[in-house]
Formats: sequence, C-alpha cells, structure tokens
Amino acid sequence: MEPIKVRVCVGTNCCFAGGESIIEALEDDADLAGFVKVEAIRCLDKTCAGGAESPVVTVGERLIKRATLEVVMEEIERQALPLILGAPDEEGRDA
Ligand code: FES
Repeated sequence: MEPIKVRVCVGTNCCFAGGESIIEALEDDADLAGFVKVEAIRCLDKTCAGGAESPVVTVGERLIKRATLEVVMEEIERQALPLILGAPDEEGRDA
C-alpha cells in the first residue's frame, strides 16, 4: 500500500497563510501514520496567484487552493478509505 502523498507549499505566501501549521498538524496526527506522506514544497509554479489562493496543498493528484486543515483532512479520508477498507485492486483482489 502506497501512502497518500500530501504536498504542502511553504513558499512565502503559503507559509504566511497557514501552510506551515497544516504540515505540523498532519505530522502530529498519529492516526495518519502509514497512510500519509507529508512533504514541504516551494511555490507550485505560482499557483497561489501571489498569495490570493494560499495556502496551496496537493493530496494525491488533487490540488487544493486556499487549503484549510479541515478540507485537507476530508480529502485524505476520501482517498484513504479504500485503503483502510481493503478495497479490491484493479484486478479484483482484496488489499
Ligand atoms: S507560495 Fe505557495 S504556491 Fe506560491
């Protein structure tokens, strides 16, 4: 089982808008251990639009602008649920 990759921008705009606190909260959440890999990144090709869209977070392939911890956790739960429940893989085998 591959952990869900969560990338949190800690560029200047996103850091001031709460990116750093999102990383800390995710890293401190023991329930996420093994399910989530958190990574700090720098400005995502100016996705933040000069800070208007900060903080920027990706959960798996989903890009979240103006991210809050609540929205990030909801997306993690949505993506992790099949892993937790042991959903069948593409070939129909249980995890
Ligand atoms: S500073 Fe975070 S995307 Fe630009």
